[in-house]
This record gives sequence, C-alpha cells and structure tokens, in this order.
Amino acid sequence: MSADFDLESFLDRSKETVESYADGVLPSDHKLPGVLGASMRYSFFAGGKRFRPALAFAAAEAVCGRVEPALPFATAIEMIHTYSLIHDDLPAMDDDELRRGMPTNHVKYGEAIAILAGDALLSDAFTLLTDPKIVSVYDGLTITRCINEIAKAAGSTGMVAGQAMDVLSEGCQLDLPTLEFLHICKTGALIRASVLTGAYSAGIANEEQLTALKSYASRLGLAFQIADDILDVEGDTETLGKPVGSDEERNAATYPSRLGMQESKELLAELIDQAVEQLAIFGEKGEALKALAFYVAGRDR
Ligand code: IPE
Ligand code: IPE
Ligand code: MG
Ligand code: MG
Ligand code: MG
Repeated sequence: MSADFDLESFLDRSKETVESYADGVLPSDHKLPGVLGASMRYSFFAGGKRFRPALAFAAAEAVCGRVEPALPFATAIEMIHTYSLIHDDLPAMDDDELRRGMPTNHVKYGEAIAILAGDALLSDAFTLLTDPKIVSVYDGLTITRCINEIAKAAGSTGMVAGQAMDVLSEGCQLDLPTLEFLHICKTGALIRASVLTGAYSAGIANEEQLTALKSYASRLGLAFQIADDILDVEGDTETLGKPVGSDEERNAATYPSRLGMQESKELLAELIDQAVEQLAIFGEKGEALKALAFYVAGRDR
C-alpha cells in the first residue's frame, strides 16, 4: 500500500454516501404503523462502521476506478446487516442490551417491533434492488447476479445458516472445520457478497479479477469474525459499542475458546496476509481493498 492512501477518509466518505442514500430509501416514521419506521431508522443510523459498504465501494474501484456503481448494493447489504444485528441481539439469540453504543432495538422498542423492523429491513433491501429505476441502470445479467448473490448470502446457505449453527452449537466443542464453516456463513457470506456485488456492479470484471476477489473476500470474511471473537474477550465496551464477554456468557463457539488467544491472533494475521496477496493484479486500484484488510487485522471496534 502506498503510504499516502487515506483509509480514514475513504471510510468517512463511504459512511456519508451510504447514509445519505439510505435516508431516502428507509421509510419515514410517520408513514408507517406505530413505531416501525422509527425502529428501523434507530438501528440503521445508530452508527455502524459501514465496513461492508466500504468493501463494495473498494471492489468497484478496483475493477473500474469508480465507486458509484456499487451504491444500491452497498446500501441493501447494510440494511440486511442491520437486520441481522437486531435479530442477533434478541433474547432468544445472544440476548444483548447494547449495540452501536445504544440500547438494542428490542430494549428500546420491545421484541415484537424489533423482530418486525428486522423483517422489514430485509424485505426493503430487495424492494430497493428491484426498483425499476435502479434495475434500468445496470444490464440485466449484472443486476440479476448481484441480487442473487445478496439473497444467497443472507439466506439459508449464508448468514442465517451460520446464525443457526451458532445458536445450536452453544456449549459444544466444535472441530475446527465446522467452526470455520460457521464463521464463513454467519459473517463471511455478507462480506463476500459486498466484495462481489461491488465488482459485478462495475460491469467489466474479468474471470481473473473475480477469482482473486473471491479468494480475498473468503479470507477477509473469516478474519473479520475471528477479530470479532477476539474483541469480545479483549475489547473495550465503550469503544466497541457492544458488550464484551457476551460469547463466554452463552458458551458460544469462538476461535479464542477453540484455539486459544495467541493462535487465534496468529491465524487472523495469516488470513489478512493471504487476503492482501490476492490483490496484486489490481495494482494501485486495489489500495482501498488492501487498506480495508489491514484495518480488520488492527481494528478495536
Ligand atoms: C458485527 O459487525 C457483527 C458481525 C458480523 C461480526 P460489525 O463489526 O461490522 O458491526 P457494525 O456494523 O460496525 O456495527
Ligand atoms: C453475529 O456474530 C454475526 C451476525 C450475523 C449478526 P456475533 O453475535 O459475534 O456479533 P456481535 O458480536 O453480537 O456483533
Ligand atoms: Mg451472535
Ligand atoms: Mg451477538
Ligand atoms: Mg461477537
């Protein structure tokens, strides 16, 4: 990475772009029954890192030198990610009370509205992507590939599969391949979809580029959840904006509990190095992707 790549401003720009677009996409509170719209907006705008949108922008930039084509996909993925967090925090799942530095959605709005806000964020993500105004901007194969990729990543072979494995494996000592599969599904799938849809949206990615991006994204997705597991032990609640120790409390299947802290950190570093190696073919255009990988290795929130 050249020393002058400014990741902080790339992340700030990604955040601003996606938040201002989402403001026009998410329902305004008063148009919906009761507090549904307010509940959706509460969690979406609570202040996430917007790491997945940044990845989608960075992948589009690596392929075509521009971030703009990735915007609807970046936003839809962040809506789905937000829904996954609302449901992840519910009493029936991780039972957590702090998220993005604020009381969790069910603490603020009650369980029923939290469940429904999650449901609505998921469905509305696909309403956005199938809006004729959006569809008409891309060629038919590109938009179909993107929507298919996102739906697969969210559903029963992606994030939801991982979340099901996660709750079913509480208190179990999983073997390493099973734990890896769990993490790749629950967190890796949406991260991979962010990279791939960013690349597809750029319209001109060739097979060599797509193969490199798939290898990059698979390693990065696993690394992101290993870092999350490490932070659940060693992080600081105020910086993280979510409780530390949540995994241990429910005996969750994590890398530190399976491999120990030192080995988990070594594996994290190794995965990041491998992810970065895949980017060689992109030259300077891959700098944002490279910087985002290093960010995962060192993140404290
Ligand atoms: C947290 O994701 C949940 C995981 C999949 C590990 P993030 O760490 O990206 O959370 P936000 O979006 O910044 O709040
Ligand atoms: C959740 O993993 C991943 C999701 C699909 C939401 P975690 O349960 O570890 O995420 P945090 O730590 O609550 O953000
Ligand atoms: Mg969880
Ligand atoms: Mg959780
Ligand atoms: Mg966690």
